[in-house]
Amino acid sequence: MIDAAALANAATRALRAYDPGHDLPALRKRFGDALAELGSNENPLGPSPHALAAIEAALPDVFRYPDPQGIALKTALATQLQVAAAQITLGNGSHELLMLVAQCFADGGNSIVFSEFGFAVFPIATAAAGARAIRVPALPRTHATMPRGHDLAAMADAVRTDTRVVYIANPNNPTGTWFDDAVLDDFLARVPATVLVVIDEAYHEYVTLAGVSSAVRHLRQYPNLIVTRTFSKAYALAGLRVGYAVSAAEVAGVLERLRESFNVNGLALAAAEAALADREHVARARDWNLAEREWLGERLRALGLRVLPSQTNFVLIDFAADAAPIERVLFERGVIARPMGGYGLPECLRISVGTRAENERLLEALP
Ligand SMILES: Cc1ncc(COP(=O)(O)O)c(C=O)c1O
Repeated sequence: MIDAAALANAATRALRAYDPGHDLPALRKRFGDALAELGSNENPLGPSPHALAAIEAALPDVFRYPDPQGIALKTALATQLQVAAAQITLGNGSHELLMLVAQCFADGGNSIVFSEFGFAVFPIATAAAGARAIRVPALPRTHATMPRGHDLAAMADAVRTDTRVVYIANPNNPTGTWFDDAVLDDFLARVPATVLVVIDEAYHEYVTLAGVSSAVRHLRQYPNLIVTRTFSKAYALAGLRVGYAVSAAEVAGVLERLRESFNVNGLALAAAEAALADREHVARARDWNLAEREWLGERLRALGLRVLPSQTNFVLIDFAADAAPIERVLFERGVIARPMGGYGLPECLRISVGTRAENERLLEALP
């Protein structure tokens, strides 16, 4: 026996291993096609057919290492985002990049600011870097327009002299909430230039509201800004693990020091490039998601449930009482929802927008 936990460094001792939730492979066997997987915010429409064709075309080369710089994908992203390729860092999912930022820029002498009900990786990245977490209260449950949303003014107030990173998700997971351009403009103007501001835009492609733009437009003015995006959501390539960060080239240069060589595999690089080029496919996913989310939201509200506003491919349902028994009933009926106890929202369940058949199954299965 070895007491490995006692030997781990202080930052690792403070962490717990990721809880992967239900054993999905076993559940797929048990329920077959009747399983409604609404727990992980995937895009049930699937990826562009061009992405699948690109994977097939890349298959014979799997014996080779992938391009360590991912130049073709970076160039395509740079063209689409109107930045330089040197401003892009590729990640094995954007999760990896969120971790990398804290590891590269913060340590035990720093604090990192994020919101209550912010994305789960933010506190993990903070703890893994040994930094002090400053968790800023979210907007109240009773807020008129953005219940549980990020309070950016309070987040700017929370920045201390030792703060090195602020993590913000727009729109946010698990609340689905967002903030508009004016709020971000004010926030960026208030945060010192020595604080790295990470805007996690994992769900950006699903946003349909005018006035909720990507923070990429601010990169020229704010070299302390890092925008992260992913191919896991609207591009429907979650299984391949590709994300990217857009930042000042100098910031990308620092991230590059700790990035694992070959962190994005060859099939993923090829698929992401093809998926990026298929703009129509992403637009269809966005339009379909909007219609289906509204359909689902209306029906949930008609059942008397409180559904938070969302600009994403999921909704947060506030049951106003412990949601664990409801989650258990759904589970037994083959509908996977995401419990929110870990986020401090035990009265809520997060439900991804599924296919119409899956959404109907959810509505039938609700106790
Ligand atoms: C807000 C947010 N950011 C980042 C991620 C990480 O996604 P990936 O690592 O698949 O790019 C997720 C995944 O659910 C997310 O919800």
